Amino acid sequence: MLPLLLPRAVVSGLRGACRSSPSWLCTRACSTNDSFQPQGPNLCNSGEGSSTSGWRVLGSLLGLGAALAYHNHRCRAAQKESPHIYTKEEVRSHSRPETGVWVTFGGEVFDVTEFVELHPGGPSKLMLAAGGPLEPFWALYAAHNQPHVRELLAQYKIGELDPKDNTPSTLDTSDPYANDPVRHPALKVNSQRPFNAEPPPELLAENYITPNSIFFTRNHLPVPNVDPDTYRLHVVGAPGSDSLSLSLDDLRKFPKHEVTVTLQCAGNRRSEMSQVKEVKGLEWRTGAISTARWAGARLCDVLLQAGHQRGDTETHVCFEGLDSDPTGTAYGASIPLARALDPDADVLLAYEMNGQPLPRDHGFPVRVVVPGVVGARQVKWLGRVSVEPQESPSHWQRRDYKGFSPSVDWDTVDFDSAPSIQELPVQSAITEPLDGETIQSGEVTVKGYAWSGGGRAVIRVDVSLDGGLTWQAAELHGEEQCPRKAWAWRLWQLQAPVPAGQKELNIVCKAVDDSYNVQPDTVAPIWNLRGVLSNAWHRVRVQVAP
Ligand code: MTE
Repeated sequence: MLPLLLPRAVVSGLRGACRSSPSWLCTRACSTNDSFQPQGPNLCNSGEGSSTSGWRVLGSLLGLGAALAYHNHRCRAAQKESPHIYTKEEVRSHSRPETGVWVTFGGEVFDVTEFVELHPGGPSKLMLAAGGPLEPFWALYAAHNQPHVRELLAQYKIGELDPKDNTPSTLDTSDPYANDPVRHPALKVNSQRPFNAEPPPELLAENYITPNSIFFTRNHLPVPNVDPDTYRLHVVGAPGSDSLSLSLDDLRKFPKHEVTVTLQCAGNRRSEMSQVKEVKGLEWRTGAISTARWAGARLCDVLLQAGHQRGDTETHVCFEGLDSDPTGTAYGASIPLARALDPDADVLLAYEMNGQPLPRDHGFPVRVVVPGVVGARQVKWLGRVSVEPQESPSHWQRRDYKGFSPSVDWDTVDFDSAPSIQELPVQSAITEPLDGETIQSGEVTVKGYAWSGGGRAVIRVDVSLDGGLTWQAAELHGEEQCPRKAWAWRLWQLQAPVPAGQKELNIVCKAVDDSYNVQPDTVAPIWNLRGVLSNAWHRVRVQVAP
């Protein structure tokens, strides 16, 4: 995101322009903003109409600037004496242009309605914070938290947050989700309990490495609260070898391995499948994918210490999480032993994500990271590892996360007939512009991500502005990756002239990986009852401003 920074000259110009309107100034300084919400504080509003016209007369007599500056000063002084107090609920109800756009920062409330269009990072980015605190966004984009930005924000202050709102609510012990962590407000929530959420597209491709706080979250159960001091990872030993019970410190004694890996949920872009025909599952849009730098012990090193080696028959490494349903059944999944033991496959027992201990939502204190493989196998809050002749018996391995023909329905589906999803197919999506947006004529910038499973590198992303009639290759960005170990996505961008006279663009993208796999052009032929593996060409329609 472009920082919320305006050059001082522009800021003072804007302020100057704004000050030429007394009603705007009164709105800003005293927030008597009739057109948006009558609840605004009314500190200098003892009959606003007459007061404002009084100021106009005084302005023409004494010089508008001086009079308005004095008026501004008086309003501020009044506000300092007794700031208007708002509840969080009142702030939350101001999250749309029609209601006015309010934000909070450090216990103060700001009406930034008129700044939204001026936000250098674009209105849509500022709107992500609408009706709530700025802090989580400024934590993501630290360039904002600077004196001159705070000074600019101060111009928009309308009051303060009710201190009573800050009293921590008591924990509802009957609610298994009551102890879930606090989440970033920018996340688009697909389900609250269990928590499932994705970053909005306009933030997703802003960073090659997704910040932890907006990394997509896919939980099937409540988040367990694991004490790192008593945590032990149980690794069942091979016949004739001892089992291991590893503390976090024990795990840290294995050589530390770091790798940048993109995780994608099998259900990413399911919402496009459900437009073809109903599917069972959460309505993920394009954001059930994110990239992090993971660090931890290599699974192969730990398995070798427990006496495991490659066998002749296919065997599986089964993982169990510490999250469990009311019957005590834990989340579980498995991967083939051959992948787990291959040092080049970079399978990790990760305890760090982007240089930090894993956040609770992403598996604190230890999770499995299996590069190139579907998210479902990357078990979080890892409690147990064992090597078995069969795949994990878990529901999520055997009765979910499998692909079927479009003609298979819930009456005919035979889950045993299909292999569990492991490596994912090639994928790409457009993150900017947004579907339905109006863009300016002249030039369009199209941005997005592309990734393929199994370490296959994305070699090209084709973008079309006319629904697939003609194509242009996008520029690829991102870390250079080793052959057959392209574990992380490519971000891409295309800047292209908007054809003259065009009223609408039908933008499409498709990626090609180094096995020359390409995405299918439409969703219908790959539709499946669980809505997984949705990787058809991604399409976005935008209007062109006249
Ligand atoms: N591990 C446990 N223990 N419990 C879970 O619910 N969800 C899986 C996987 N590991 C899950 C889990 C699924 S389906 C996905 S897509 C990834 O975690 C999501 O990882 P993330 O939430 O860190 O993005």
